[in-house]
Amino acid sequence: MSEIKTIEITKPDDWHLHIRDGEFLPDLLGHTASQFSRAIIMPNLRPPVTTVDLANAYKARIKAALPKGSQFEPLMVLYLTDNTSASEVKKAKEHGVVAFKLYPAGATTNSDAGVTDLKKCSAALEAMEACGIPLLVHGEVTGIEIDIFDREAVFIDQVLEPLRIRHPGLKIVFEHITTKQAAQYVKEADTARYGVMGATITPQHLLFNRNAIFTGGIRPHYYCLPVLKREEHRQALVEAATSGNSRFFLGTDSAPHIKGTKENACGCAGCYTAWHAMPLYAEAFENANALERLQGFASEFGADFYGLPRNTSKLILKKESHLVPDEFPMGSGTVVPLRAGEMLTWSIVG
Ligand code: DOR
Ligand code: ZN
Repeated sequence: MSEIKTIEITKPDDWHLHIRDGEFLPDLLGHTASQFSRAIIMPNLRPPVTTVDLANAYKARIKAALPKGSQFEPLMVLYLTDNTSASEVKKAKEHGVVAFKLYPAGATTNSDAGVTDLKKCSAALEAMEACGIPLLVHGEVTGIEIDIFDREAVFIDQVLEPLRIRHPGLKIVFEHITTKQAAQYVKEADTARYGVMGATITPQHLLFNRNAIFTGGIRPHYYCLPVLKREEHRQALVEAATSGNSRFFLGTDSAPHIKGTKENACGCAGCYTAWHAMPLYAEAFENANALERLQGFASEFGADFYGLPRNTSKLILKKESHLVPDEFPMGSGTVVPLRAGEMLTWSIVG
């Protein structure tokens, strides 16, 4: 008889999620709300969510689209621009906005309104230091002369380290880290002299290396930004996520795109993992013999970082295989999840 394995953990939160807007919300939200109590909602809409008023309106649309009776709580983030004012930062803090997001201009989906030079944001960053609101960074430089696989490592030297020195009180989350350099930087960051540091890690960066994008042909549903890296980097991320170090916590970066915009001559970046996020993380932690560390990573360290209470309800996962559907409805189109048509080893049972 095969061993039946069940794990019960404190209900997790997703500290990095894209759910888009409008007709897409009702189709996508249930996937996240069935596993997570809260999620940080990324602001890279078109136009981006740059003000408290826009964030409040977006939050109201999300709440209206939630499945009936859902207790899910969207946590709002503002999109930092060259023009973000110190007064908007203060207002954000007063209205419960949890963070600002730095998209270097041109780095990824809907980032054309992003920051062209962080020095233009000095007043906003000083206000963030003063009121303790974190900056979430998409950590890639954008210069076309920089190899796509090096963009994160170069960001550390050219942008992140100077930023921490210029703004020593700034709390920073290095989002969706993908390299051993980023894991090491976060692990070793001097938070006594400079601001507190955290990092999120996605399920795809724990489970796959860059070969996954090219196995037997080009596989657009494995393409996200920052792009998957070499195996040595995947291993460093697994080590960080399963180490019990509270600087590393869960952020899926689930990023749905309509099927045709990914299966395309110039396909969009983003992996859709909201439907099966916790089974994917459980598989990665089990592969590393570290299931007992899943709860800290998924349900405790992120809440602690943001100064929010840990959840009290539970999530139960069972070692039971099930199939990832080929696609899900997304408005008038469909979205293809990561590992579509393949078997997962863990299921959510409560
Ligand atoms: O792969 C990605 N997709 N990376 C990002 O930074 C943005 C995201 C999206 O919004 O599609
Ligand atoms: Zn993202």
